[in-house]
Amino acid sequence: MAEACTYFFLSSLLFSLLETSNSLDTLPSNQSIRDGDTLVSAGGTFEMGFFSPGSSKSRYVGIWYAISSGTVVWVANRDTPLNDHSGVLTITDEGVLALLNSTNNVVWSTNISRTAENPVAQLLDTGNLVVKDGNVDDPERFLWQSFDYPCDTLLPKMKIGRDLVTGLDRIMSSWKSTEDPARGDFTVRLDPRGLPQRVLMKGNTIKARTGSWNGLRFTGYPGVTRNPVFDYEFVMNQNEVYFDFTLVNTSVFSRYTINPSGVAQRFVWMDRTRSWELYATSQPDACQTYAFCGAYATCDRDNSPACACLKGFLPKSPKDWKSIDWSDGCVRRTPLVCNIGDGFLKYTGLKLPDTSSSWFNATLSLDECEGLCLKNCSCTAYSNLDIRGKGSGCLLWLGKLIDTVVYSQGGQDLYIKVASSELGMTKRRPEKDCENEGLKEDMELPIIDLTAIANATNNFSSNNKLGEGGFGPVYKGTLPEGQVIAVKRLSTNSGQGPIEFINEVKLIAKLQHRNLVKLLGCCTEENEKILIYEYMPNKSLESFIFDETKSKLLDLRKRIDIIGGIAKGLLYLHEDSRLRVIHRDLKASNILLDMEMNPKISDFGLARSFQGDQIVSKTHRIVGTYGYMSPEYAVHGQYSVKSDVFSFGVLVLEILSGKKNRGFCHPDHHLNLLGHAWRLWIVDRAMELIDESVVDAHTRSEVLRLIQVGLLCVQQRPEDRPNMSYVVLMLGSEVLLPIPRQPGFYADLSVADSPSSNNATYSANGISISTFEAR
Ligand SMILES: *[C@@H]1O[C@H](CO)[C@@H](O)[C@H](O)[C@H]1NC(C)=O
Ligand SMILES: *[C@@H]1O[C@H](CO)[C@@H](O)[C@H](O)[C@H]1NC(C)=O
Ligand SMILES: *[C@@H]1O[C@H](CO)[C@@H](O)[C@H](O)[C@H]1NC(C)=O
Ligand SMILES: *[C@@H]1O[C@H](CO)[C@@H](O)[C@H](O)[C@H]1NC(C)=O
Ligand SMILES: *[C@@H]1O[C@H](CO)[C@@H](O)[C@H](O)[C@H]1NC(C)=O
Ligand SMILES: *[C@@H]1O[C@H](CO)[C@@H](O)[C@H](O)[C@H]1NC(C)=O
Ligand SMILES: *[C@@H]1O[C@H](CO)[C@@H](O)[C@H](O)[C@H]1NC(C)=O
Ligand SMILES: *[C@@H]1O[C@H](CO)[C@@H](O)[C@H](O)[C@H]1NC(C)=O
Ligand SMILES: *[C@@H]1O[C@H](CO)[C@@H](O)[C@H](O)[C@H]1NC(C)=O
Ligand SMILES: *[C@@H]1O[C@H](CO)[C@@H](O)[C@H](O)[C@H]1NC(C)=O
Ligand SMILES: *[C@@H]1O[C@H](CO)[C@@H](O)[C@H](O)[C@H]1NC(C)=O
Repeated sequence: MAEACTYFFLSSLLFSLLETSNSLDTLPSNQSIRDGDTLVSAGGTFEMGFFSPGSSKSRYVGIWYAISSGTVVWVANRDTPLNDHSGVLTITDEGVLALLNSTNNVVWSTNISRTAENPVAQLLDTGNLVVKDGNVDDPERFLWQSFDYPCDTLLPKMKIGRDLVTGLDRIMSSWKSTEDPARGDFTVRLDPRGLPQRVLMKGNTIKARTGSWNGLRFTGYPGVTRNPVFDYEFVMNQNEVYFDFTLVNTSVFSRYTINPSGVAQRFVWMDRTRSWELYATSQPDACQTYAFCGAYATCDRDNSPACACLKGFLPKSPKDWKSIDWSDGCVRRTPLVCNIGDGFLKYTGLKLPDTSSSWFNATLSLDECEGLCLKNCSCTAYSNLDIRGKGSGCLLWLGKLIDTVVYSQGGQDLYIKVASSELGMTKRRPEKDCENEGLKEDMELPIIDLTAIANATNNFSSNNKLGEGGFGPVYKGTLPEGQVIAVKRLSTNSGQGPIEFINEVKLIAKLQHRNLVKLLGCCTEENEKILIYEYMPNKSLESFIFDETKSKLLDLRKRIDIIGGIAKGLLYLHEDSRLRVIHRDLKASNILLDMEMNPKISDFGLARSFQGDQIVSKTHRIVGTYGYMSPEYAVHGQYSVKSDVFSFGVLVLEILSGKKNRGFCHPDHHLNLLGHAWRLWIVDRAMELIDESVVDAHTRSEVLRLIQVGLLCVQQRPEDRPNMSYVVLMLGSEVLLPIPRQPGFYADLSVADSPSSNNATYSANGISISTFEAR
């Protein structure tokens, strides 16, 4: 403070000796200007002096257009106003600009990092107030310049962004109000994280994102290409990263401002009317609001609703999504498996997502970029860095994709990583297929490195073994990124293995349904035959319903849901899939449960595809699982969709009763579960099939209905059994149900007790186990 007083004393002394002229653009050292005096730039464009905004009484030092004195473009003491007209602006002989009040206190001053021989302050015709050494006009060597400390206005050639050498960050900030130039809430700046992008912030929160530079424009300014007024420039090198704008016609005045409410506006001076005309303004539209639709969604102002999940993604909170709150965004329908085979979906016409977690390299090609993204487990999307010409460079996103907007024109291409199973009919990568004798046709299935699988399963350690699948052991594996997988390995001593392996790959690679387990990839390296599936944390239905403790975790509602899910999966297999498939080995241990206990049909080793008109097939090799096999198949080797329906019926009764069909035992008789259910049904006591304590008045009729559907499915004659579309209809509506006839196989094989009721065409009697390979 003492120093400031000295400056003041000296300068006021000199001031009285040398009258300053108000027409000069330069303030020599040791001199001052008082309230009322001004500096005017050489070309007469800008003027600098003391002013009060609007009706405010406070005094500020500022710079304004000479043609429009109310248009203040820069304020020195914006946060420290003077309250009278006694202020003095001076420059010391060291080059410090200081504003003193009537008691000679410094209310504002500049910082300089070095001193000069003969410092002077000069108001340039660009509107830049600079402190320089004598006649040194090299901007690089200015001691200080007002352009480094932007307020609410951006003038041509004024930079917003960082000097990476000194750390100086040039940020635009709004006024508090039209009468108070103090720093307001809103700022426009370059966010330096990842690929730098231009953002509008309120406090510490991003409100809108003009986005990153694509060589031609900011990705959030699709319309701003050629215009008769201005061009944006973006510079990024080792020393600095910034943007500015230049005028197309330098005799035209244009300025860009951010008003106290955070609205960005561009004005152009009209000579004819001698006034500022609004040339462009930021539209307060939903899609411009940062992250309006949340993660992994796009915003399209031409759509209603504006928000939509990206392909392969689902709303994270479907309830909120429906009630027009999109902020939670979307999540993947199928998790990524990382480097064992994800692919990309191409989008066009987009404002690219937030680049604050991104990586870029200007020399890599788009193909190299794709390769990098595929290999890097954190990578979620890629695009060209620069879209000029055919496009060049590589930009990778390394996290959630946020704030993506659909543009009708001027948008860009973006390649979004999804699990390969989500690619559907679109082009799939990698193009390598699982090659094998039986797999010559285009399987489009990702191939996986054997070493990666071995590593993931601790070299197929027995500790990782989950159980035995159709043709070999299944292991739990964990990929380096933490994704858990199920690894099904063909046992080397399995005779029929390869056929079943190929069969499974062929079929399931082409099937996709939420109630079918998902195949993620395969491996046929070094005589290994391995399939990789999504991991089902809750294991199989068998592990729940037949276990005294765990079965308590499955309440009736859940069981009913599971039955519905299995029915839908089977309906898809039979009638809706591209292939039309008979599973042939439906059973409780082949129904897996995901995290939310949704059922997923698995194990397609025995499944067969069939033609539309092919009703029944015959085989000499009867394979399947005892207890679930339909009589016509077990006895005559005839299988059709109706053999699956039979197995489904068995499952329904097992799920409801918690008892195994095979091995069922009852003190009163030697019937299996089907026979037991039938006997109860015909005497109208079907509810005894389940633990009555879990049923309330509300679920009672639903349970009875399910038992009836189950019994309809296990009817002896295949033609009596409903098809799966009818089953789904019966489960999901109140249609009147047919009356079931007697089930097939209602005594256990081991029991030669002929049923007393009526015609048991296919009683178990006389069927030898050796005629088929039961599991
Ligand atoms: C400014 O004033 C100081 C102190 O009187 C003096 O030493 C210096 O030479 C002056 N500088 C100029 C450029 O007149
Ligand atoms: C001058 O500024 C100082 C420091 O900000 C302050 O304490 C003092 O009251 C001001 N004087 C007048 C007359 O405003
Ligand atoms: C001057 O520099 C100091 C220390 O580097 C800093 O804290 C202060 O904000 C600077 N003042 C201005 C007006 O730039
Ligand atoms: C630039 O603008 C001035 C003033 O509007 C106009 O007279 C002049 O013709 C323009 N120059 C060009 C090259 O458009
Ligand atoms: C970009 O990639 C090229 C080729 O791989 C490499 O030579 C260069 O160092 C990379 N540049 C940066 C900045 O990482
Ligand atoms: C993915 O790439 C980024 C940027 O190069 C890098 O920082 C990160 O470590 C990579 N992650 C993995 C898992 O390779
Ligand atoms: C093998 O697994 C370990 C830890 O499980 C992991 O750090 C490593 O990257 C993996 N190596 C390969 C080649 O996958
Ligand atoms: C797996 O086996 C290979 C070869 O036998 C051995 O080099 C490697 O260390 C083993 N890895 C683990 C995780 O046991
Ligand atoms: C199913 O698995 C999930 C994830 O492991 C677990 O949180 C949940 O408790 C399981 N459900 C039951 C009924 O065990
Ligand atoms: C399924 O059964 C219903 C009712 O019996 C019948 O109308 C329908 O045509 C059948 N659908 C197929 C695909 O066989
Ligand atoms: C039993 O089935 C046979 C053959 O299908 C049939 O001829 C006979 O009438 C049936 N008997 C009864 C009692 O339904």
